[in-house]
Amino acid sequence: MQNDMESVLFSEEKLAERTQELADEISKEYKDKNPLMIGILKGAMPFMSDLVKRMDIYLELDFMDVSSYGNATTSSGEVKILKDLDTNVEGRDVIIVEDIIDSGRTLSYITKMFGYRKANSIKIVTLLDKPEGRVVELPVDYVGFLVPNEFVVGYGLDYAERYRNLPYIGILKPEIYRDK
Ligand code: PRP
Ligand code: MN
Ligand code: MG
Repeated sequence: MQNDMESVLFSEEKLAERTQELADEISKEYKDKNPLMIGILKGAMPFMSDLVKRMDIYLELDFMDVSSYGNATTSSGEVKILKDLDTNVEGRDVIIVEDIIDSGRTLSYITKMFGYRKANSIKIVTLLDKPEGRVVELPVDYVGFLVPNEFVVGYGLDYAERYRNLPYIGILKPEIYRDK
């Protein structure tokens, strides 16, 4: 698997350092609010796991699974709910946790929906933000790193469902996805 990588963008150490900073910032703001942290499967899983372990406040976890990309490297624009929340968000202070925001379609859909469901507040924390990919305007509250318009994998981010288990974020060798 490591042989498929062209370069490392964010090392395991760098990810841990930035995740700690985000955890401190969010903990300070949400102390006494018992936030509902909602991870968007599957990409958010490794980041969310590391983030919440660094937060020393009361909080709750829930998950949603939506689809927007399928197995392609470009966004199809469709957002479909594959798994909804178990928790009622009404009156809750919601923090959506993502691995990456690209076109913004996924989160624009989800934040609107939590608005209809009467969440008290909705904020977004994303490890990566790719502003050049943006199609829909979206306010993002906490960003780990900005990334260039390249296909990055690892630490939750997949190519055709692979590489999510890499402990770092890197760029794939072009021959891995060329002609696919
Ligand atoms: C990826 C990523 C975000 C979304 C961002 O998920 O994890 O959830 O796409 O793209 P957007 O801003 O253009 O909507 P994907 O739908 O590939 O599912 P996955 O997390 O299971 O890989
Ligand atoms: Mn995702
Ligand atoms: Mg994906």
